Amino acid sequence: MKILLCFGTRPEAIKMAPLFHELKKYSIFEVKVCITAQHREMLDQVLDFFEIVPDYDLDVMQPNQTLNGLSAHILSKMDYVLNDSKPDLVLVHGDTTTSTMVALAAFHLSIKVGHVEAGLRTYNKKSPFPEELNRQLTGRIADFHFAPTQKGAKNLLQEGVKKDAILVTGNTVVDALVLTSEKLVNGFTTTAIQTLKNSINFSRKIILVTGHRRESFGEGFENLCKALLKIAENEEVEIIYPVHLNPNVQKTVFEMLSKVENIHLIQPLDYPSFVWLMRKSSLIISDSGGIQEEAPAFNIPVLVTRETTERDEGITAGFSYLVGTNTSTIVEMANMLLHSKLEKEDKPNPYGDGKASERIVHFIKNHI
Ligand code: UD1
Ligand code: UDP
Repeated sequence: MKILLCFGTRPEAIKMAPLFHELKKYSIFEVKVCITAQHREMLDQVLDFFEIVPDYDLDVMQPNQTLNGLSAHILSKMDYVLNDSKPDLVLVHGDTTTSTMVALAAFHLSIKVGHVEAGLRTYNKKSPFPEELNRQLTGRIADFHFAPTQKGAKNLLQEGVKKDAILVTGNTVVDALVLTSEKLVNGFTTTAIQTLKNSINFSRKIILVTGHRRESFGEGFENLCKALLKIAENEEVEIIYPVHLNPNVQKTVFEMLSKVENIHLIQPLDYPSFVWLMRKSSLIISDSGGIQEEAPAFNIPVLVTRETTERDEGITAGFSYLVGTNTSTIVEMANMLLHSKLEKEDKPNPYGDGKASERIVHFIKNHI
């Protein structure tokens, strides 16, 4: 069976990497990889670490790209890839412009589509924007739906997807995390880890920050920065912020936060360095989907700087807190979590057990 994995951004690559390696174990599969390179540097970092050499690289990223321009580029370039590779199955991931455009291109050529990380929903088209609609569209196109949690599967069933086209798998991000944590425990290190060790006082409380959601550009990011300035008045904390390369994020964050001694604005980290840093953190403030799924593995609380989340399993289980982008709420919650002693109970990660890729591959072998 010919399988083509297509992805384009950092989180898709992290979450598709374990699946790629699992598929490669079986000679019945002829596996190829197409990257749209919707992200460039941030994607290449992941490919290097997971040792994936793409068969096709569409190289579409443009500085400050528009959603329509990006969509048009991907859609037009996929004809060549699909006609050249002639896959029996295309696998896409999640909710990016890459996943939806690739799924649509495959559908136009009557090629079957499997959707990894299927069924996540807020049912609010504006939040997250444009991801909520992307995942609904990909869900309509897909023939097979790999839902990370029971809740995802339930959403799909309610939307009329047939039961036998859905598999609950856990999130492949946990597979990636297990693999990476094992490497780190066995002594794997990076230049970025060494630099962090030399430049940051790890005896202080570490607050790790990330953010990139389009619906927070402007006021939302300004409010977050104001909150970080307030939190940084406490000299016992070190705030480390690997700043996303989106120019709309960079502008606000560098303008507002560059001159503070205990706020460290750094380049996006390669994946193992980021995992290493998560483990050193007392608190994470982020609007990232992937980080909401990873932090429970290390029992690190996350303030989710969004108005909605499709990942409420972490909130229900007490790992994360939906705080929006209100400055005083972020400051109050950060102070509360930094000063309260969190019970380090061994609660299971609600997003997965590290075996998602195995389950997906088993399904493909036996049902497709
Ligand atoms: C994209 C996804 C979002 C995902 C996020 C993960 C869409 C619409 N958005 O958002 O769902 O959560 O990735 O990070 O699919 N850039 C670089 N180098 C890079 C990456 C980005 O310079 O390696 C800059 C470019 O100027 C680019 C801009 O960031 O035009 C925006 O990239 P884009 O992929 O459109 O949006 P993200 O905000 O990264
Ligand atoms: N990540 C990383 N380096 C960083 C920041 C994040 O490798 O500097 C990883 C993080 O561990 C997670 C993923 O990138 O697996 C999340 O990506 P992002 O927040 O860009 O996208 P989202 O998950 O919100 O779609």
